[in-house]
Amino acid sequence: MRSGPPANLDAITGERLRALLRAMPKAELHVHIEGTLEPELIFALADRNGVALPYPSVDALRAAYAFTDLQSFLDIYYAGASVLRTEEDFHAMAMAYFARAVADHVVHAEIFFDPQTHTSRGVPMATVVHGLARAGQDARRIHGIDASLILCFLRHLSEDDAFATLEAALPLRDQFIGVGLDSGERGNPPEKFARVFARCGELGLRRVAHAGEEGPPAYIRAALDVLHAERIDHGVRCLEDPALVTDLARIQVPLTVCPLSNVRLGVVPALHRHPLGALLAAGIRATVNSDDPAYFGGYIGANYAETFAALPLGPRDAYALARNGFTASFAEPGVKRRWLDALDEAFAAA
Ligand code: HPA
Ligand code: ZN
Repeated sequence: MRSGPPANLDAITGERLRALLRAMPKAELHVHIEGTLEPELIFALADRNGVALPYPSVDALRAAYAFTDLQSFLDIYYAGASVLRTEEDFHAMAMAYFARAVADHVVHAEIFFDPQTHTSRGVPMATVVHGLARAGQDARRIHGIDASLILCFLRHLSEDDAFATLEAALPLRDQFIGVGLDSGERGNPPEKFARVFARCGELGLRRVAHAGEEGPPAYIRAALDVLHAERIDHGVRCLEDPALVTDLARIQVPLTVCPLSNVRLGVVPALHRHPLGALLAAGIRATVNSDDPAYFGGYIGANYAETFAALPLGPRDAYALARNGFTASFAEPGVKRRWLDALDEAFAAA
């Protein structure tokens, strides 16, 4: 029987709150698996696969992670992903992520992957999906973590390309739960993918979309109305449109917010200016996630710790954010209830 948060919730402050932020069970709903590729693993895979990298060392590569906007990041992110060639490479990348996620007490992860980044280099779809899906099974066995995959279409490419990608992935339909939309947002509105998302809906795939990261609030509206997205990835620019804020609060479509990413890509000027608290205060179902943690300076635990250190957020916000992560997930209701019980236990023990 669920008990809800403890009555003395507000007494949890300082180091007790920091410890609770670390220890509470978490769901991660916005992580690009290619964005978890750490420089050390990029170099190891480049070596293994005979791929020449335009950087002489791990440190030189890491030094290039000085992004000015989304596109400056994407250029390096796609270059990093070029070392992935074999099923074993995809498996190794995902296993490294799961080890980090478990250390942050992630119990459920819905993981984005970008097949077009790989199939365009001649890597078969099955190589990508089998490597990632096998890692998910191994992670459940080894770490007890629950994971599923979401196939993302690259929005800078055409809708025909997205349709061809969907076609190539359909024989592997049982190994991913849904589709998303990522890559360069500006100039690539949701409407561009209306037909392919409609087809995915007919196929029973869950639908999410990046919107309102660099793109305007109108892209969030279109992701909801045209793509029928069940979650909005990022979505922070909704705050520029009060009517949209009201609607998001009413319909409770979740936002998967990634604070460290937003700072690194210049979406917000600094962490202490991040609108996470404003989103919660407006009644929007916001969650905390890591996006591309190998590139943005931290995994989900660091996103929680640094954001709470920078903003006037308290234990009620911690509870709401962690709870939203579970309720916003695509897990079965019974499974969600177990996680919510575990969350209440973590708060009761704090
Ligand atoms: N936005 C869009 N596309 C992406 C991102 C992001 O933050 N990360 C990886 N692909
Ligand atoms: Zn993202």
